[in-house]
Amino acid sequence: MKILAIETSCDETAIALLSAKQGSLKLEKNQIYSQIDLHKKYGGVVPEVAARKHLETIGPLLDDTIKPKDFKKIDHIAVTQGPGLITSLLLGTTVAKALAYTNNLPLVPVNHIEGHIYSNWLSHDELVKQDNKYFPSLILIVSGGHTELVLMTGHGQYQILGKTLDDAVGEAFDKVAKLLELGYPGGPEISRLAKDGDHTAYQLPRPMLNNKDYNFSLAGLKTAVLYALEKDGDIDTKEIKNMCASFQTAVIDVLMHKTFRAAQEFGAKSIMIAGGVSANTALRQAMQAKAEQNNLPLFYPKLEFTGDNAAMIAVAAYYQVVGSGEILRDKELMSMQPKANWQLTQK
Ligand code: KG4
Ligand code: ZN
Repeated sequence: MKILAIETSCDETAIALLSAKQGSLKLEKNQIYSQIDLHKKYGGVVPEVAARKHLETIGPLLDDTIKPKDFKKIDHIAVTQGPGLITSLLLGTTVAKALAYTNNLPLVPVNHIEGHIYSNWLSHDELVKQDNKYFPSLILIVSGGHTELVLMTGHGQYQILGKTLDDAVGEAFDKVAKLLELGYPGGPEISRLAKDGDHTAYQLPRPMLNNKDYNFSLAGLKTAVLYALEKDGDIDTKEIKNMCASFQTAVIDVLMHKTFRAAQEFGAKSIMIAGGVSANTALRQAMQAKAEQNNLPLFYPKLEFTGDNAAMIAVAAYYQVVGSGEILRDKELMSMQPKANWQLTQK
């Protein structure tokens, strides 16, 4: 099965071409145009600017991915239907609908968060060959817009155990980076500086660590960083590194604690991390060590698939098609609309 996938939910314009069959996935093309440099000067993504840039970029990117005559080799078009920025989603879904309709192909609408989860299949052959033995899997989703603990009991089957009540983890990294004047996006920079920092230098809270539920709250942690900075006045490079390490450790402590407690309570046979923050080295190392202690297999995506990309959307679409998930055809596909707030468990 050949799938052409489009992803435009935020600030990456991405198109991928995937060949998939039972037990094997082959990524033939994976094009990503990142708009990060464009949004840097605003300190975050500006939705209207993002949508306009998607419009400029998507045509040339499509030309680089596939020639018009090769559409006859494609079986499905896949597209991120949500969640994300509505104007950005509108662009990608409109292009996908037009391509599907004019080439007489079925359209597979994919949830972006589900795409992040499937970036693990893109990265680990053992999942593609034998994922059954890893279900139920406890999945920690950590991106710029989402922080969720999800129990995946099978393909396309999810139970949301908890989520953030305020900021997402990536968002917290970005906001703390802003306080430290480290630029946008802040996650990679905090992660880099934290390597040389002392994580015990600042006493930061571990919000909701001991609550019985699986929800998170990160806004208070960000405020604690703000108060510490106000108290200390101008801090030097060494102290910035210490703050990065202290903040990162506080976040990781909370994430780990809840993830492994949930894994135990729900009898998970594996753990997966997904989303932009799964690129964080300290998080990966801490999760790896604890997973080994608990004798649980841990999966995280290859670095190239941690951020937004269309390859993961193609993989999620493949499992949706073989699992008799939603596929839109003919006139029906033209009425498909983006869903900016689409929850993983909503139909
Ligand atoms: O999944 P993603 O690319 O976009 C969304 O769907 O939200 O995630 C982007 C987020 C940003 O907040 C970015 O700062 C964060 O992931 N991020 C990191 C790292 N790399 C990216 N956070 C912590 N450590 C990193 N190494
Ligand atoms: Zn994402």
